[in-house]
Amino acid sequence: MKDADKLHMSDFLRGPVIGSAIQALELPQGSSGLDAGCGIGSHTLLLANAVGPAGHVTGLDLSFELLIHAKKRARKSSLSAQVSFQKGDVSKLPFEDDTFDWVWSADCVGYAPLEPLPLVKELARVVRPGGKIAILGWSSQQLLPGYPQLEARLNATSAGIAPFVKGKMPELHFLRALGWFNEAGLQELNAHTFAGEVHAPLNNDMRSALISLIDMRWGKPQPELSEEDREEYQRICQPESPDFIVNLSDYYAFFTYSLFSGKVVNSTTMD
Ligand SMILES: C[S@@+](CC[C@H](N)C(=O)[O-])C[C@H]1O[C@@H](n2cnc3c(N)ncnc32)[C@H](O)[C@@H]1O
Repeated sequence: MKDADKLHMSDFLRGPVIGSAIQALELPQGSSGLDAGCGIGSHTLLLANAVGPAGHVTGLDLSFELLIHAKKRARKSSLSAQVSFQKGDVSKLPFEDDTFDWVWSADCVGYAPLEPLPLVKELARVVRPGGKIAILGWSSQQLLPGYPQLEARLNATSAGIAPFVKGKMPELHFLRALGWFNEAGLQELNAHTFAGEVHAPLNNDMRSALISLIDMRWGKPQPELSEEDREEYQRICQPESPDFIVNLSDYYAFFTYSLFSGKVVNSTTMD
C-alpha cells in the first residue's frame, strides 16, 4: 500500500481525534499557520476550518507525491481558498522569521531520523512572538482485543517502538517533547493525550481504516518475533485470513495521540 493510500484510509479513524486536538489549541479565528509535514493535507484542511474563512494554512512537505494528493483534496473541499501547499524541508523552512501565528506538526517533528531540538527551534523561528508551536504524535494503541501478549510483543519490535529507535537517548523519545520545548525557550507548555476508539459493527470505511492502521503500526511480520507469534500475527491481522480480528462481532479498539504545545516568547530565546 502506498503512503498516500494508508494516510487516506486511516483518516476515517483519526479525523475525530485530530479534530479534538486542534480544538483544544484554540487557534485564533483569522490567524495564519503552518502544517509542517502535512502529508496528504488532511490536517491542513481541519486547521483551515478551525481558523475560519479569514484564516490561512500553509501545508509543507518534503514529498512531492503527497503534496499532489494534498492539492487535489483541497480543490475538492470548500476550503481551497484558505490553504496553500509547498514543498520544503522542516529542518530548513523556506519562510522568514515570524511569518506565522502558529505552527502545527503531526507525526513528523520528533520523529527519527531528524534530531527534535533543532526542528522545534526552526518551527519557533517562523512563529511570531506570542504565537504557538504544537506537535502531535501517535502515542499508543490497543488494536488486538483478546491478544494482549501478542500485542505487547508486537509493540516491543522495532516497528512497534517506531519512530523511537532502540539505543537512542531516552530524551529523544516523543513523550519527552516538553524537554525539547523547554530547551528551545518556549513557555506556557502544555501536554494532553486524546483517545480515539472504534467498535463493531464496522462500516467499510472503518474496516479499511483499521486495515491501514494495523499495517502502519506493525507492517510485515517482524523478524524479532518468534515463529509462533509471526504465525498468530498473520492469522489475526491479515485481512484475507478467516480469523481476521477486525471481523469479530465484538471488536473494540482504541488509540491515542499526544499533543505538546508551547508559546514563542521572542526570537532571542531561540538562539
Ligand atoms: C507520518 S506522515 C504524517 C503526515 C500528516 N502530518 C498526518 O499526520 O496525516 C509524516 C510526513 O512528514 C513528511 N516529512 C518527513 N520528513 C520531512 C521533512 N524533513 N520535511 C518536511 N516533511 C517531512 C513526510 O513526507 C510525511 O508526509
